[in-house]
Amino acid sequence: MMRRLFGLCVLLAVITIACEEPPATEPIARGRQLFRKLDCGRCHFIDGQGGRIGPELTHIGTTAGQRAPALSAEEYIRASVVAPGSYVVRGYNDVMPRGLTRNLSPADLDALVLFLREHR
Ligand code: HEC
Repeated sequence: MMRRLFGLCVLLAVITIACEEPPATEPIARGRQLFRKLDCGRCHFIDGQGGRIGPELTHIGTTAGQRAPALSAEEYIRASVVAPGSYVVRGYNDVMPRGLTRNLSPADLDALVLFLREHR
């Protein structure tokens, strides 16, 4: 009985480890991973899939440069992600959740911004 329970625990541990995706080391791949993990696609359509509550992000690397004249594309994307509501895109509601990226390391935040910036 105990042995069977032990075997079951080992099996569960192996499944858990196998399911946890290891962090990608390449920044754009890491950014894509974070976009998925933070469920940004719930509201944003990108690369052929996602929601429509927020603007499509497939070409955000280009549009970002035109949103706020004083900001570069990168600065605009960073502001949109870190402080939603600082620039509200016309035609959309100010409903993007605050604090989504609060727990990201600086490197992870850079990766997420880079992933979006490369969508030209
Ligand atoms: C509950 C829905 C929702 C979620 C989840 C969400 N957003 Fe948004 N987002 C919006 C809406 C709505 C807007 C447009 C209004 C505004 O500009 O604040 C927006 C705006 C943006 C913009 C600016 C787009 C543009 O065309 O100028 C970026 C970039 C962005 N979101 C990135 C993200 C990222 C990255 C995540 C995940 C960490 C995320 N969003 C999660 C709803 C969401």
